[in-house]
Amino acid sequence: MTDLDELKADLLARVGAAENLRALDDVRVAALGKKGAISDLMKGLGGMDPDARKAAGATFNRLKTEIAEAVEARRDTLEDADLNARLAAERIDVTLPTREEARGSLHPVSQTIDEVVAIFGEMGFTVAEGPDIESDWYNFTALNIPPEHPARQEQDTFYLPGEADGQPILLRAHTSPVQIRTMLARKPPIRIICPGRTYRCDYDATHSPMFHQVEGLVIDETTHMGHLKGCLIDFCRAYFGIDDLPVRFRPSYFPFTEPSAEVDIGCTRKSGEFRIGHGDDWLEILGSGMVNPAVLENCGIDSTRYQGFAFGVGLERIAMLKYGIPDLRTFYESDLRWLRHYGFAALDVPSMVGGLTR
Ligand code: DAH
Repeated sequence: MTDLDELKADLLARVGAAENLRALDDVRVAALGKKGAISDLMKGLGGMDPDARKAAGATFNRLKTEIAEAVEARRDTLEDADLNARLAAERIDVTLPTREEARGSLHPVSQTIDEVVAIFGEMGFTVAEGPDIESDWYNFTALNIPPEHPARQEQDTFYLPGEADGQPILLRAHTSPVQIRTMLARKPPIRIICPGRTYRCDYDATHSPMFHQVEGLVIDETTHMGHLKGCLIDFCRAYFGIDDLPVRFRPSYFPFTEPSAEVDIGCTRKSGEFRIGHGDDWLEILGSGMVNPAVLENCGIDSTRYQGFAFGVGLERIAMLKYGIPDLRTFYESDLRWLRHYGFAALDVPSMVGGLTR
Protein backbone atom coordinates (compact mmCIF):
# COMPACT_ATOMS: atom_id res chain seq x y z
CA MET A 1 0.00 0.00 0.00
CA THR A 2 1.32 3.39 -0.88
CA ASP A 3 1.35 6.25 1.60
CA LEU A 4 -1.47 7.79 -0.34
CA ASP A 5 -3.60 4.64 -0.10
CA GLU A 6 -2.95 4.54 3.60
CA LEU A 7 -3.89 8.20 4.02
CA LYS A 8 -7.08 7.64 2.06
CA ALA A 9 -8.01 4.55 4.07
CA ASP A 10 -7.31 6.39 7.28
CA LEU A 11 -9.38 9.44 6.33
CA LEU A 12 -12.31 7.33 5.11
CA ALA A 13 -12.20 5.31 8.31
CA ARG A 14 -12.32 8.48 10.37
CA VAL A 15 -15.21 9.86 8.33
CA GLY A 16 -17.08 6.62 8.84
CA ALA A 17 -16.35 6.61 12.54
CA ALA A 18 -17.61 10.18 13.16
CA GLU A 19 -20.50 9.75 15.60
CA ASN A 20 -22.04 13.15 15.22
CA LEU A 21 -21.94 16.28 13.05
CA ARG A 22 -19.39 18.00 15.26
CA ALA A 23 -16.93 15.04 15.05
CA LEU A 24 -17.52 14.85 11.32
CA ASP A 25 -16.64 18.49 10.94
CA ASP A 26 -13.39 17.92 12.85
CA VAL A 27 -12.47 15.18 10.40
CA ARG A 28 -13.39 17.40 7.45
CA VAL A 29 -11.12 20.18 8.71
CA ALA A 30 -8.29 17.74 9.40
CA ALA A 31 -8.53 16.39 5.84
CA LEU A 32 -9.70 19.25 3.64
CA GLY A 33 -9.07 22.36 5.74
CA LYS A 34 -6.36 24.88 4.88
CA LYS A 35 -3.92 23.13 7.14
CA GLY A 36 -5.35 19.65 6.52
CA ALA A 37 -3.64 16.53 5.25
CA ILE A 38 -4.70 16.98 1.62
CA SER A 39 -3.73 20.65 1.56
CA ASP A 40 -0.32 19.55 2.82
CA LEU A 41 -0.01 17.17 -0.10
CA MET A 42 -0.98 19.94 -2.51
CA LYS A 43 1.72 22.14 -1.11
CA GLY A 44 4.31 19.51 -2.09
CA LEU A 45 3.32 19.86 -5.77
CA GLY A 46 5.37 23.05 -6.13
CA GLY A 47 8.65 21.17 -5.73
CA MET A 48 7.89 18.53 -8.40
CA ASP A 49 8.90 18.55 -11.99
CA PRO A 50 6.05 19.33 -14.43
CA ASP A 51 5.14 15.76 -15.48
CA ALA A 52 5.18 14.38 -11.95
CA ARG A 53 3.21 17.44 -10.79
CA LYS A 54 0.53 16.84 -13.40
CA ALA A 55 0.09 13.20 -12.42
CA ALA A 56 0.26 13.84 -8.69
CA GLY A 57 -2.07 16.86 -8.96
CA ALA A 58 -4.72 14.74 -10.62
CA THR A 59 -4.37 11.99 -8.01
CA PHE A 60 -4.54 14.44 -5.11
CA ASN A 61 -7.62 16.09 -6.58
CA ARG A 62 -9.35 12.74 -6.96
CA LEU A 63 -8.52 11.96 -3.36
CA LYS A 64 -9.84 15.33 -2.31
CA THR A 65 -13.12 14.76 -4.19
CA GLU A 66 -13.51 11.26 -2.76
CA ILE A 67 -13.01 12.46 0.80
CA ALA A 68 -15.36 15.42 0.27
CA GLU A 69 -18.04 13.07 -1.08
CA ALA A 70 -17.55 10.67 1.82
CA VAL A 71 -17.95 13.58 4.26
CA GLU A 72 -21.19 14.69 2.52
CA ALA A 73 -22.59 11.17 2.53
CA ARG A 74 -21.77 10.78 6.22
CA ARG A 75 -23.35 14.17 6.93
CA ASP A 76 -26.59 13.05 5.23
CA THR A 77 -26.60 9.87 7.28
CA LEU A 78 -25.98 11.72 10.55
CA GLU A 79 -28.62 14.35 9.76
CA ASP A 80 -31.21 11.70 8.95
CA ALA A 81 -30.40 9.93 12.18
CA ASP A 82 -30.72 13.22 14.05
CA LEU A 83 -34.10 13.94 12.53
CA ASN A 84 -35.37 10.44 13.23
CA ALA A 85 -34.23 10.72 16.84
CA ARG A 86 -36.08 14.03 17.21
CA LEU A 87 -39.21 12.70 15.57
CA ALA A 88 -39.16 9.75 17.95
CA ALA A 89 -38.61 12.00 20.98
CA GLU A 90 -41.22 14.59 20.04
CA ARG A 91 -43.90 12.19 19.00
CA ILE A 92 -47.46 13.46 19.65
CA ASP A 93 -50.23 11.15 20.64
CA VAL A 94 -53.04 12.43 18.45
CA THR A 95 -55.50 10.09 20.12
CA LEU A 96 -55.32 11.93 23.47
CA PRO A 97 -58.54 13.79 24.32
CA THR A 98 -58.35 17.58 23.86
CA ARG A 99 -58.46 19.98 26.80
CA GLU A 100 -61.83 21.61 27.24
CA GLU A 101 -61.85 25.15 25.87
CA ALA A 102 -63.16 27.86 28.19
CA ARG A 103 -65.67 29.77 26.06
CA GLY A 104 -66.86 33.21 26.97
CA SER A 105 -70.50 34.14 26.75
CA LEU A 106 -72.46 37.21 25.87
CA HIS A 107 -73.85 39.33 28.70
CA PRO A 108 -77.66 39.56 28.56
CA VAL A 109 -77.36 43.35 28.11
CA SER A 110 -75.23 42.87 24.98
CA GLN A 111 -77.54 40.17 23.68
CA THR A 112 -80.61 42.36 24.22
CA ILE A 113 -78.97 45.32 22.47
CA ASP A 114 -78.21 43.04 19.52
CA GLU A 115 -81.79 41.83 19.39
CA VAL A 116 -83.29 45.33 19.56
CA VAL A 117 -80.86 46.66 16.95
CA ALA A 118 -81.68 43.71 14.66
CA ILE A 119 -85.44 44.38 14.88
CA PHE A 120 -85.18 48.12 14.23
CA GLY A 121 -82.49 47.50 11.65
CA GLU A 122 -85.06 45.50 9.65
CA MET A 123 -87.32 48.57 9.79
CA GLY A 124 -84.59 50.79 8.34
CA PHE A 125 -83.28 52.40 11.53
CA THR A 126 -79.57 53.03 11.98
CA VAL A 127 -77.68 53.20 15.26
CA ALA A 128 -76.62 56.59 16.64
CA GLU A 129 -74.50 57.22 19.71
CA GLY A 130 -73.76 60.06 22.09
CA PRO A 131 -71.54 60.72 25.10
CA ASP A 132 -72.33 59.49 28.62
CA ILE A 133 -71.23 62.85 30.05
CA GLU A 134 -73.63 65.52 28.86
CA SER A 135 -74.35 69.14 29.54
CA ASP A 136 -77.55 70.19 31.24
CA TRP A 137 -78.76 71.68 27.95
CA TYR A 138 -78.65 68.42 25.97
CA ASN A 139 -80.01 66.30 28.82
CA PHE A 140 -82.80 68.66 29.92
CA THR A 141 -83.31 72.13 28.47
CA ALA A 142 -83.22 71.22 24.77
CA LEU A 143 -85.69 68.42 25.52
CA ASN A 144 -88.14 71.01 26.80
CA ILE A 145 -87.25 70.40 30.44
CA PRO A 146 -86.18 73.87 31.60
CA PRO A 147 -84.55 74.49 35.01
CA GLU A 148 -87.10 74.13 37.82
CA HIS A 149 -89.27 71.84 35.68
CA PRO A 150 -90.65 69.10 37.98
CA ALA A 151 -89.66 66.40 35.45
CA ARG A 152 -86.04 67.01 36.48
CA GLN A 153 -86.84 65.53 39.87
CA GLU A 154 -87.67 62.14 38.37
CA GLN A 155 -84.38 62.05 36.55
CA ASP A 156 -82.12 62.94 39.44
CA THR A 157 -78.68 62.14 38.11
CA PHE A 158 -75.03 62.70 39.01
CA TYR A 159 -73.47 66.12 38.49
CA LEU A 160 -69.79 66.59 37.78
CA PRO A 161 -67.64 69.47 38.94
CA GLY A 162 -67.16 72.22 36.37
CA GLU A 163 -69.14 73.40 33.40
CA ALA A 164 -69.23 73.00 29.62
CA ASP A 165 -70.25 76.04 27.55
CA GLY A 166 -71.54 77.68 30.73
CA GLN A 167 -73.73 74.65 31.45
CA PRO A 168 -73.57 72.24 34.40
CA ILE A 169 -72.24 68.84 33.36
CA LEU A 170 -73.80 65.56 34.36
CA LEU A 171 -74.10 61.87 33.52
CA ARG A 172 -76.97 61.61 31.07
CA ALA A 173 -80.19 60.51 32.76
CA HIS A 174 -81.63 59.07 29.55
CA THR A 175 -80.62 58.45 25.95
CA SER A 176 -82.89 61.30 24.77
CA PRO A 177 -79.98 63.78 24.41
CA VAL A 178 -78.89 61.69 21.40
CA GLN A 179 -82.11 62.88 19.70
CA ILE A 180 -80.91 66.43 20.13
CA ARG A 181 -77.38 65.71 18.92
CA THR A 182 -78.70 63.87 15.89
CA MET A 183 -81.20 66.58 14.91
CA LEU A 184 -78.52 69.26 15.27
CA ALA A 185 -76.09 67.28 13.13
CA ARG A 186 -78.37 66.00 10.36
CA LYS A 187 -81.27 67.08 8.26
CA PRO A 188 -84.49 65.04 8.17
CA PRO A 189 -85.49 62.41 7.22
CA ILE A 190 -84.08 60.83 10.37
CA ARG A 191 -84.62 57.29 11.58
CA ILE A 192 -82.29 56.27 14.40
CA ILE A 193 -82.09 54.14 17.47
CA CYS A 194 -79.60 54.76 20.19
CA PRO A 195 -78.71 52.06 22.71
CA GLY A 196 -76.54 53.28 25.56
CA ARG A 197 -75.73 53.69 29.24
CA THR A 198 -77.78 56.03 31.40
CA TYR A 199 -77.49 57.12 35.03
CA ARG A 200 -79.74 58.02 37.96
CA CYS A 201 -79.52 58.27 41.75
CA ASP A 202 -81.48 55.11 42.39
CA TYR A 203 -80.75 51.70 43.83
CA ASP A 204 -83.13 48.83 44.52
CA ALA A 205 -84.23 45.54 42.94
CA THR A 206 -85.53 47.30 39.84
CA HIS A 207 -83.27 50.38 39.76
CA SER A 208 -79.54 50.75 39.40
CA PRO A 209 -77.44 53.95 39.33
CA MET A 210 -76.24 52.86 35.88
CA PHE A 211 -78.54 51.14 33.43
CA HIS A 212 -79.25 51.06 29.71
CA GLN A 213 -81.90 52.51 27.47
CA VAL A 214 -82.67 52.40 23.79
CA GLU A 215 -83.94 55.61 22.30
CA GLY A 216 -85.72 55.83 18.97
CA LEU A 217 -86.38 58.85 16.78
CA VAL A 218 -88.14 59.27 13.44
CA ILE A 219 -88.47 62.67 11.78
CA ASP A 220 -90.04 63.23 8.38
CA GLU A 221 -92.63 65.39 6.65
CA THR A 222 -95.53 62.98 6.89
CA THR A 223 -94.83 61.00 10.05
CA HIS A 224 -97.88 60.58 12.28
CA MET A 225 -99.15 58.74 15.34
CA GLY A 226 -100.16 55.76 13.20
CA HIS A 227 -96.50 55.22 12.29
CA LEU A 228 -95.54 55.37 15.96
CA LYS A 229 -98.14 52.76 16.83
CA GLY A 230 -97.33 50.41 13.97
CA CYS A 231 -93.61 50.60 14.62
CA LEU A 232 -93.87 49.92 18.36
CA ILE A 233 -96.47 47.17 18.02
CA ASP A 234 -94.19 45.40 15.53
CA PHE A 235 -91.23 45.87 17.83
CA CYS A 236 -93.00 44.43 20.92
CA ARG A 237 -94.24 41.42 18.99
CA ALA A 238 -90.88 40.70 17.36
CA TYR A 239 -88.91 41.19 20.57
CA PHE A 240 -91.09 38.94 22.72
CA GLY A 241 -91.62 36.50 19.85
CA ILE A 242 -95.42 36.54 20.20
CA ASP A 243 -97.16 37.31 16.88
CA ASP A 244 -100.43 38.49 18.38
CA LEU A 245 -99.10 40.01 21.61
CA PRO A 246 -101.67 42.57 22.81
CA VAL A 247 -100.15 46.08 22.80
CA ARG A 248 -101.93 49.09 24.32
CA PHE A 249 -101.17 52.81 24.09
CA ARG A 250 -102.03 54.75 27.24
CA PRO A 251 -102.01 58.57 27.30
CA SER A 252 -99.12 59.91 29.33
CA TYR A 253 -96.89 62.94 29.67
CA PHE A 254 -93.30 63.64 28.69
CA PRO A 255 -92.05 67.20 28.22
CA PHE A 256 -90.34 66.26 24.94
CA THR A 257 -93.38 64.69 23.27
CA GLU A 258 -96.91 65.88 22.60
CA PRO A 259 -99.07 63.87 22.68
CA SER A 260 -97.29 61.21 24.72
CA ALA A 261 -98.17 57.58 25.27
CA GLU A 262 -96.94 54.80 27.43
CA VAL A 263 -96.94 51.38 25.86
CA ASP A 264 -98.28 48.36 27.72
CA ILE A 265 -98.19 44.71 26.70
CA GLY A 266 -100.66 42.01 27.68
CA CYS A 267 -99.77 39.67 30.51
CA THR A 268 -101.18 37.29 33.09
CA ARG A 269 -100.62 37.65 36.80
CA LYS A 270 -102.43 34.86 38.57
CA SER A 271 -101.61 33.22 41.87
CA GLY A 272 -97.95 34.08 41.71
CA GLU A 273 -97.60 33.22 38.04
CA PHE A 274 -96.48 35.92 35.60
CA ARG A 275 -96.61 35.42 31.88
CA ILE A 276 -96.33 37.79 28.93
CA GLY A 277 -98.99 37.36 26.26
CA HIS A 278 -102.76 37.14 26.32
CA GLY A 279 -104.21 37.67 29.75
CA ASP A 280 -106.29 39.97 31.80
CA ASP A 281 -103.55 42.37 32.84
CA TRP A 282 -101.15 44.92 31.35
CA LEU A 283 -97.49 45.67 31.87
CA GLU A 284 -95.90 49.00 31.03
CA ILE A 285 -92.74 48.64 28.98
CA LEU A 286 -91.87 51.88 27.24
CA GLY A 287 -92.53 55.60 26.79
CA SER A 288 -93.24 57.30 23.48
CA GLY A 289 -94.90 60.23 21.76
CA MET A 290 -94.93 62.67 18.88
CA VAL A 291 -91.86 64.89 19.14
CA ASN A 292 -92.84 68.18 20.79
CA PRO A 293 -92.54 71.04 18.23
CA ALA A 294 -90.57 72.99 20.85
CA VAL A 295 -87.87 70.29 20.72
CA LEU A 296 -87.72 70.45 16.91
CA GLU A 297 -87.35 74.23 17.05
CA ASN A 298 -84.58 73.91 19.68
CA CYS A 299 -82.70 71.87 17.09
CA GLY A 300 -83.35 74.28 14.22
CA ILE A 301 -85.92 72.04 12.50
CA ASP A 302 -88.99 73.75 11.05
CA SER A 303 -91.87 72.29 13.06
CA THR A 304 -94.45 73.45 10.53
CA ARG A 305 -92.84 71.23 7.92
CA TYR A 306 -91.44 68.30 9.90
CA GLN A 307 -92.83 66.10 12.59
CA GLY A 308 -91.92 62.77 14.06
CA PHE A 309 -92.11 60.36 16.92
CA ALA A 310 -89.76 59.15 19.62
CA PHE A 311 -89.61 56.41 22.18
CA GLY A 312 -87.44 55.22 25.04
CA VAL A 313 -87.11 51.68 26.40
CA GLY A 314 -85.35 50.45 29.53
CA LEU A 315 -83.07 47.74 28.21
CA GLU A 316 -82.58 45.73 31.42
CA ARG A 317 -86.30 45.87 32.00
CA ILE A 318 -87.14 44.16 28.73
CA ALA A 319 -84.23 41.72 29.19
CA MET A 320 -85.54 40.80 32.67
CA LEU A 321 -89.02 40.23 31.27
CA LYS A 322 -87.90 38.12 28.34
CA TYR A 323 -85.32 36.01 30.14
CA GLY A 324 -86.93 35.81 33.59
CA ILE A 325 -84.18 37.66 35.46
CA PRO A 326 -85.67 38.76 38.80
CA ASP A 327 -83.19 41.34 40.16
CA LEU A 328 -81.74 44.20 38.11
CA ARG A 329 -78.71 44.57 40.36
CA THR A 330 -77.39 41.14 39.36
CA PHE A 331 -76.66 42.49 35.87
CA TYR A 332 -73.67 44.39 37.24
CA GLU A 333 -72.34 42.12 39.97
CA SER A 334 -70.06 40.28 37.54
CA ASP A 335 -70.85 36.97 39.19
CA LEU A 336 -69.67 34.32 36.76
CA ARG A 337 -72.23 31.82 38.04
CA TRP A 338 -74.96 34.29 37.09
CA LEU A 339 -73.42 34.87 33.68
CA ARG A 340 -73.11 31.15 33.04
CA HIS A 341 -76.77 30.78 33.89
CA TYR A 342 -78.16 33.76 31.97
CA GLY A 343 -75.36 34.40 29.42
CA PHE A 344 -75.62 33.60 25.75
CA ALA A 345 -73.29 31.63 23.51
CA ALA A 346 -71.16 34.20 21.74
CA LEU A 347 -71.97 32.86 18.30
CA ASP A 348 -75.74 32.73 18.69
CA VAL A 349 -77.05 34.82 15.86
CA PRO A 350 -80.45 36.38 16.46
CA SER A 351 -82.95 35.30 13.89
CA MET A 352 -86.02 37.25 12.85
CA VAL A 353 -87.99 34.16 11.98
CA GLY A 354 -91.12 34.04 14.13
CA GLY A 355 -89.85 36.86 16.30
CA LEU A 356 -86.39 36.67 17.74
CA THR A 357 -85.59 33.13 18.71
CA ARG A 358 -82.33 31.86 20.01
N1 DAH B 1 -86.47 59.65 28.24
C1 DAH B 1 -87.57 58.94 28.87
C2 DAH B 1 -87.13 58.41 30.23
O1 DAH B 1 -85.96 58.25 30.42
C3 DAH B 1 -88.02 57.81 28.02
C4 DAH B 1 -88.69 58.31 26.82
C5 DAH B 1 -90.05 58.49 26.81
C6 DAH B 1 -87.99 58.63 25.69
C7 DAH B 1 -90.71 58.97 25.73
C8 DAH B 1 -88.64 59.12 24.56
C9 DAH B 1 -90.02 59.29 24.60
O2 DAH B 1 -88.01 59.45 23.46
O3 DAH B 1 -90.65 59.78 23.49
O4 DAH B 1 -87.94 58.16 31.05
